[in-house]
Amino acid sequence: MIEFNNVSKIYQSGTHALKNINIKIDDGEFVFIVGSSGAGKSTFLKLIMHEETPTSGDIIINDISLADLKRKDVPYLRRMMGIVFQDFRLIDKMTVYENVAFAMRCIGAHPAMIKKRVQYILKLVGLSDKMKSRPSELSGGEQQRVSLARALVNNPSIIIADEPTGNIDPEMSYEILDLLSEINKHGTTVIIVTHEQELVTVFGKRIVEIKDGCVLSDTSLNRAVELDDVDDFFFG
Ligand SMILES: Nc1ncnc2c1ncn2[C@@H]1O[C@H](COP(=O)(O)OP(=O)(O)OP(=O)(O)O)[C@@H](O)[C@H]1O
Ligand SMILES: [Mg+2]
Repeated sequence: MIEFNNVSKIYQSGTHALKNINIKIDDGEFVFIVGSSGAGKSTFLKLIMHEETPTSGDIIINDISLADLKRKDVPYLRRMMGIVFQDFRLIDKMTVYENVAFAMRCIGAHPAMIKKRVQYILKLVGLSDKMKSRPSELSGGEQQRVSLARALVNNPSIIIADEPTGNIDPEMSYEILDLLSEINKHGTTVIIVTHEQELVTVFGKRIVEIKDGCVLSDTSLNRAVELDDVDDFFFG
């Protein structure tokens, strides 16, 4: 479970990117984080992955308080997570295949396993024919899918994706989100940042809207309110 308790983030520049965020994401949930540019969406993800630390408040991930996390434990935390960065962060000296295989090498996977799994994942994201290309030779949408493949390859328990459909046409966007919901059905927690508000409503998942660093709305809370209403109706 991921829990934010009164979390605020003020960058050194003085920008108050997140203000007093309280949120819980259960294991196996699928959550869309939406909001306009500059709302604080990427900051929210960066706090989860411990790339940034909160100015106040605490973050608990699977019973670990990130404030108490020792530096040597950061790789353990990251290993739980498959991350699709907004700026991809692919390594251009390596081919598409190598970029994805590298993530598996980092955790000491067996070479035969790496070969099989990387080929499988690249097929899943529709990039089998680009295996030998370098990231700079790919379109934005293709690079985004390499980044997704790299995030999926180690079968993480949490997938965090910052605008995984930002450079992709609507049809491919739908396919990517559909793929992520399939993965979610097998128990993986999925957290996706997007500004495609229309597309997300199609999926009927939890939607958290961030505005000016605050949670403006959360559909899971609406559901809780609805349940309260039912309680009130039956039990007074
Ligand atoms: N490293 C940083 N240093 C200083 N300010 C930052 C930093 N990163 C983000 N900000 C500021 O914090 C605010 C929130 O930024 P964030 O990147 O979280 O927004 P976002 O919702 O992801 O926007 P976008 O949709 O454009 O990606 C913005 O005002 C941004 O300028
Ligand atoms: Mg962002």
